[in-house]
Amino acid sequence: MKIPLFKIYWEDEDVKAVTNVIKRGSYWATGPEIKKFEEMVAEYVGRKYAVAFNSGTSALHAILLAHEIQEGDEVIVPSFTFISTANAPLFVGAKPVFAEIEDETYGLDSEDVKEKITKKTKVIMPIHYGGCPCKNIKELKEIAEDNKILLIEDAAESFGAKIGNEMVGSFGDAAMFSFCQNKVITTGEGGIIVTDSKQIYEKLRLICSHGRLETANYFTSSGQVDYIMLGYNFRMPTMVAALGISQIKKIDKMVEMRRKNAAYYTLLLKNVDGIEPPIPPDNFYHVYQMYTVQVEKSLRDKLREYLLKRGISTKIYFDPVHLTKFYREKFGFKEGDLPITEEISKKVLTLPMYPTLKKEEIKYIVNNISQFMEERK
Ligand SMILES: Cc1ncc(COP(=O)(O)O)c(C=O)c1O
Repeated sequence: MKIPLFKIYWEDEDVKAVTNVIKRGSYWATGPEIKKFEEMVAEYVGRKYAVAFNSGTSALHAILLAHEIQEGDEVIVPSFTFISTANAPLFVGAKPVFAEIEDETYGLDSEDVKEKITKKTKVIMPIHYGGCPCKNIKELKEIAEDNKILLIEDAAESFGAKIGNEMVGSFGDAAMFSFCQNKVITTGEGGIIVTDSKQIYEKLRLICSHGRLETANYFTSSGQVDYIMLGYNFRMPTMVAALGISQIKKIDKMVEMRRKNAAYYTLLLKNVDGIEPPIPPDNFYHVYQMYTVQVEKSLRDKLREYLLKRGISTKIYFDPVHLTKFYREKFGFKEGDLPITEEISKKVLTLPMYPTLKKEEIKYIVNNISQFMEERK
């Protein structure tokens, strides 16, 4: 068997949605599908506004710009994340300050966040790891409110996740979702910001498109436009938004398929000594963008190799950002700076997870893990 880490879920409707825009022969940029997709996402998450971007990374860049985060400011982020969470403050001249994580949902540790707050702190930016809400998100919200700083959720990996009825993306002053190809719904590349602030929404629109004040569609109207601030071209193409619309229509089904697979994995893995499956806290609705287990650290890399030889792809999400070459060289970080993060990073292993993963494939994966663990006893 050959089992990849992820597979994209798509149906003929997705193809039709994209080809409809292509065949229309107009509005491949700034088309009506973008606004519709934004409205659907805002409604799904229960926020007033959404602005689509060409990636989650540019969306994070834009939300920090919109809140005027700049040189001299500090943004508290995890190191246990994808690099763009930490890079976003750097894009605007601010400093990322790393805080530790807890090892249940791999979210920011609120006690360590409190320790890291200084007079310069302007934002706390937690992630919701792999489809699971960050365990301390409500506490982080309180800490942010008490200290009059912003809470911006990097919810790149957790579209559709919730705590009780409260959606991930509804806790912070703003939140970002990514639609890159391994995410719960995908448009190939893409991202979005949700917020309830009209002022931030309007600024995001400007930043996303050259700082251009648009009273009518720039490409199709002949009127004069003006440019009122520094902006970028971070726009999502119309075909991409059309794909987003057809993907979001299927989200409940896709998440259910992921959750079923996760439940089966967990059922089988419970009998395997030395492997800890991901068990979300009570009332947490995990959407399993990833299925990450913990393995005794001396065995983790050998297990990876063992599985790879048997056709099973796995990955380490995440190696700590502060130990990448760039962060070591730029900021002088070294091993031991974030001991909890580093320890957890040595134990995590992300197994294949996607909606169409079959029961037999999960059985094959778990049997191989089990065999490996038996051989080491
Ligand atoms: C936690 C986290 N933040 C940010 C991003 C960046 O999103 P994108 O790849 O859409 O730029 C990702 C995506 O991989 C992510 O997992």
